[in-house]
Amino acid sequence: CMRIVVVIPTYNEKGNTLKMIDILADEFAEISHEMLLLYVDGNSPDGTADVVREKMKKYKWLHLIVEKKKRGLGPAYVEGFKYAMKELKADYVMEFDGDFQHRPDEIKKLVNEIDQGYEYIIGSRYIPGGSIPDEWGFMRKFLSVIGNLVARFGLIMPKIHDLTTGFKLSKVKGVLDKVDLDHLYSKSFAYKLHILAQIVNSGARVKEVPIHFMHRTSGESKLIKNEMGESLKVIFLFQIHNPKILKFLKFATVGFLGYVVNASTLWLFTRWMFPGPLAWGFSTELAIINNYILNNFWTFKEVKITGFGRLVFKFFQFNFTSIGALIIQTVFGTLSDIILGVKFRQLALPFIIVLLVLPYNYFM
Ligand code: GDD
Ligand code: MN
Repeated sequence: CMRIVVVIPTYNEKGNTLKMIDILADEFAEISHEMLLLYVDGNSPDGTADVVREKMKKYKWLHLIVEKKKRGLGPAYVEGFKYAMKELKADYVMEFDGDFQHRPDEIKKLVNEIDQGYEYIIGSRYIPGGSIPDEWGFMRKFLSVIGNLVARFGLIMPKIHDLTTGFKLSKVKGVLDKVDLDHLYSKSFAYKLHILAQIVNSGARVKEVPIHFMHRTSGESKLIKNEMGESLKVIFLFQIHNPKILKFLKFATVGFLGYVVNASTLWLFTRWMFPGPLAWGFSTELAIINNYILNNFWTFKEVKITGFGRLVFKFFQFNFTSIGALIIQTVFGTLSDIILGVKFRQLALPFIIVLLVLPYNYFM
C-alpha cells in the first residue's frame, strides 16, 4: 500500500473546493492505497483556504499550504511537491486541478497503473479514449493541439502524446526526487514541460492513460497570457543542455568543415591542373582526415582514441568505412567532369555530397 498525495493548487476556487473535497473523500474510499489531499492556495481573496481549513476538522488526510501571494502555477506545484515529499512522506505525488476540468472519478484510473509497475503516469487527452472539451471553439482546440505538437517534436518525444496535460501521477523515489525543482526553466505553466522532459529522459517507466478534459463550468481560468513563448523557451534551454543534441550539433559542424576542406582543396587541385580522379580523390581524402581528427578530439572527445598505434589503426578503420564515400566522390566527380566540364566542379560537389554521400554514410 503506497501513500499518494494529490496536490491541488488553487486561486479563487471557493465554490469548486467546497464540492471537490467531499467528492474526493468518496473517491479515495474506493482506492486501496493511502490517499492524502494537499491544497496549495495562492492566498485567494475569496477565502478558498478557509473552506479547506473547515473541512480539515472532518478529514485528517486533508492538508493545506497557503502561499504569501499568488506566484503562478509552477511555484505553487513546486512548493506542494516539496511539502508532499518531505513533510507528508509521499511515495507518489499527483498533479490535479481544483476546478473539475479533471474528473475526480478518473483518479483511480491513473492510480491503478502503479500496481503495473509504472512510475510516471500521464493523464492524456490525445490518445484514443481521451478528449478535450466539445465546448471549446475551433481556435482553442487548434492552439491546444499545435502547442502540444510543438512540445512533442521540440523535446523529441514522439512516444508521448500529451505533454501539456495537468493531470499526472509521479513516483517520488528515483523519479520526482531526481528532478531539480529549484531550477526549472519557467515559472508559468511551461514549468511542467521541464519536469516532464527530465523525468521521461531519466528513463522512468512511463504510461499514458486516456482522460476526458472537461469544460470549466464555474470560476475563472487563470491561464490568461499566451504560453507559447514560455514553452519555446523551455524547449530551447532544455535542448541546448541536452548532450545528445550538443553532440549532433558538433557532428554537423565537423561535417560542414569537412565540406569546406573538400571544396577548397578541390579548387586548389583544379588550379594546379591535377588529373580529374586525383583531384577528386585527394580532396575527398583530406576531408575524411579532417573529420576523423575533429570528431576524435572534439565531438567524441570522451571516448578519444589515444596512443599512436591505436590512432593509426583506427584511422585506417575509419577510412575503410569511408572508402565508399571516397569511391562515390571520385567516380561521380570524374563523371561530372566529363559531362559538365571542370568549370562546374564546385557546383557538382555539394550535389554529390547531399544526394549520394550523406545517404551512403547514413546507411553505413
Ligand atoms: N496557488 C495557485 N497559484 N494556484 C493557481 C494559480 C496560481 O498562480 N494559477 C492557477 N491556479 C490553480 C487554479 O485555481 C486551478 O485549480 C488550477 O491551478 C488550474 O488553473 P486554471 O486556471 O484552471 O488552468 P487551465 O484550466 O487554463 O489549465 C489547465 O489545463 C492546461 C492544459 O490545457 C491546467 O491543468 C494546466 O496545467 C494545463 O496545462
Ligand atoms: Mn482549469
